[in-house]
Amino acid sequence: MSDHPVLTIDGPGGAGKGTVSRLVASKLGWHYLESGAMYRALAVAASKHGINLDDTARLAEMAVSMNLRFECPRGEHQVLLDDIDITDEMGQETCGNVASIIASNPVIREALVEKQRRFKQPPGLVAEGRDMGTVIFPDAKYKIFLTASVEERARRRYLQLKQLDNNVSLDKIRSEIEERDRRDMNRSVAPLVQAGDALLIDSTDISIESVVDKCIRIIN
Ligand code: DC
Repeated sequence: MSDHPVLTIDGPGGAGKGTVSRLVASKLGWHYLESGAMYRALAVAASKHGINLDDTARLAEMAVSMNLRFECPRGEHQVLLDDIDITDEMGQETCGNVASIIASNPVIREALVEKQRRFKQPPGLVAEGRDMGTVIFPDAKYKIFLTASVEERARRRYLQLKQLDNNVSLDKIRSEIEERDRRDMNRSVAPLVQAGDALLIDSTDISIESVVDKCIRIIN
């Protein structure tokens, strides 16, 4: 692999990885990889094509062949599958859960490795997910493990979803987050774990801006 700098940001859902990564990438002019979006897009593709979640062969084939594009028109982050905007569908909690189930399958993970590594381009890359610093870019120069308490992560997710749906329940969101954490941390392959050489940042009581500042300081 070429040695363009990579910053990996791993951690559980709702810790702020997405926002922090996008801001850091934009400040540095680096590329950005949202690896969770690949698993989420695969969940959307499976549902569109009626593929059963047990059908590893078809899912793995879809993982390799799916035509996924990440765009940023007018600063808005957008994901296109076969030229169709699936950003809203991907943002749903159910999609995250299906993505987490799909992601526990080692064959499917393997099928996505190359797609993820191709994002490493000059001048640099910010890659966020669960296994960026442990499996996909183990030699990354900068590694962060970003976490926050379950209560805070559920609260952030609740405020986000409430804008779309007035009937969301904080308790339900919290239990979904806990279930997803459990699955992501206990799977047999590439579980969510802090890399030995990653710096731990807990964002429970600090702002996204100060996490971004910390990242930039580490790199500079
Ligand atoms: O980051 P996210 O919430 O969009 O990710 C959705 C699911 O995808 C997450 O619960 C587990 C899986 N995932 C993964 O296994 N490995 C990654 N690098 C990124 C996401």
